[in-house]
Amino acid sequence: MTRDLALSQSARLAAVQAPVIPIVGRWTAETPGTISLGQGIVSYGPPPEVMQAVAAFGSTLGEHRYGPVEGSAELVGLIEAKLARENGITVRPASRLFVTAGGNQAFVNAVLAVTDPGDEVILPAPFYFNHEMAVVIAGAVPVGVPTTREYQLDVAAIAAAMTPRTRAIVTVSPNNPTGAVYPEQVLREVNQLCRDRGVFHVHDEAYEYFAYAPSRHFSPGSIADAAPHTISLYSLSKAYGMASWRVGYMVVPTGLWEAVNKIQDTLLICPPAASQCAAAAALRVGRAYPDSHTAQLDRMRHEIYEALSAPDVPCEAPAVAGAFYYLIRVDSRLDSMTLTERLIREHKVATIPGSAFADPAPCSIRISYGALEPHAVSEGLERLKTGLKALAR
Ligand SMILES: Cc1ncc(COP(=O)(O)O)c(C=O)c1O
Repeated sequence: MTRDLALSQSARLAAVQAPVIPIVGRWTAETPGTISLGQGIVSYGPPPEVMQAVAAFGSTLGEHRYGPVEGSAELVGLIEAKLARENGITVRPASRLFVTAGGNQAFVNAVLAVTDPGDEVILPAPFYFNHEMAVVIAGAVPVGVPTTREYQLDVAAIAAAMTPRTRAIVTVSPNNPTGAVYPEQVLREVNQLCRDRGVFHVHDEAYEYFAYAPSRHFSPGSIADAAPHTISLYSLSKAYGMASWRVGYMVVPTGLWEAVNKIQDTLLICPPAASQCAAAAALRVGRAYPDSHTAQLDRMRHEIYEALSAPDVPCEAPAVAGAFYYLIRVDSRLDSMTLTERLIREHKVATIPGSAFADPAPCSIRISYGALEPHAVSEGLERLKTGLKALAR
């Protein structure tokens, strides 16, 4: 007779939080007419050059066969040139590049490459839920370190949280879920801390093009001698409106090449060729494309901040300068999940509960303004204000 135990999921996976987006998605689907300020996506698709390239893809047999583990030579070359030009990162010889199936897979590669079960990974909190999920799936231990009230890094607190089991510090700037952009000096301090303590600095730059003036994006991988302990992660999902194509990339120290090569070979064998063809076309268009969309996002950022800062709206919205998020603290007796559900069902506006990002605030929600046209954001904002007033303390 088979024991039930043998058919249960691993204890490790049972400890991983359930993805929150599908839960909010279900409530939204059950409430027709809901405006979604939920999922973190952009309102635009890829540039037309991408679809032209894809239309011509597949005419040779080679395009249907496995390719190099790290990605096609063409795409790797285009990315290396971009990293040198825009990020100040010289990939070889101190580092190596891998094209991945999105930034999420790049993060999984990084965690698997640097941790053993029981090792600790520091995640400044609130954090991107998939980062925590990946750490737990790998059998490592996420160590949340609170950020400041303005969602900035507290480097002293990060240093104090380090133990002999710490293997990496993760930073995300511009940040999901908070929208914070970390100043260059602070990222330099974190990178130096990692160097001094012999741990990896994993830096996620998925929102590199979404840092609004006067804030500026900075890549710690550009710091002299940072290469041996710095892992930099990127994504085309937001920048080029290519979330479904699943293309990201990572710069890893050459010392990790062998480990990441084994992981990537096992998970992916090679990045999907059609998606690499699309990504190469996007990179040839270059950053002028994402840049052409940021002025509108910046206007919405201002509009939302002003609306939520009005004295009669019962919430606190720290002024942040990046991505397309606000993580607002709400003065309500409801927990984040209940507030989210009631905002959808009673006020037809969807957000993401702060609890999904391990926000220590008792009640908070993330607002994403990337996916909608300005008029829909304005309407969503009106509903949100009405809902917050109705559901507040
Ligand atoms: C910080 C961060 N990293 C990575 C990702 C995932 O990007 P990708 O679609 O490239 O896997 C997201 C998506 O929301 C994100 O917010």
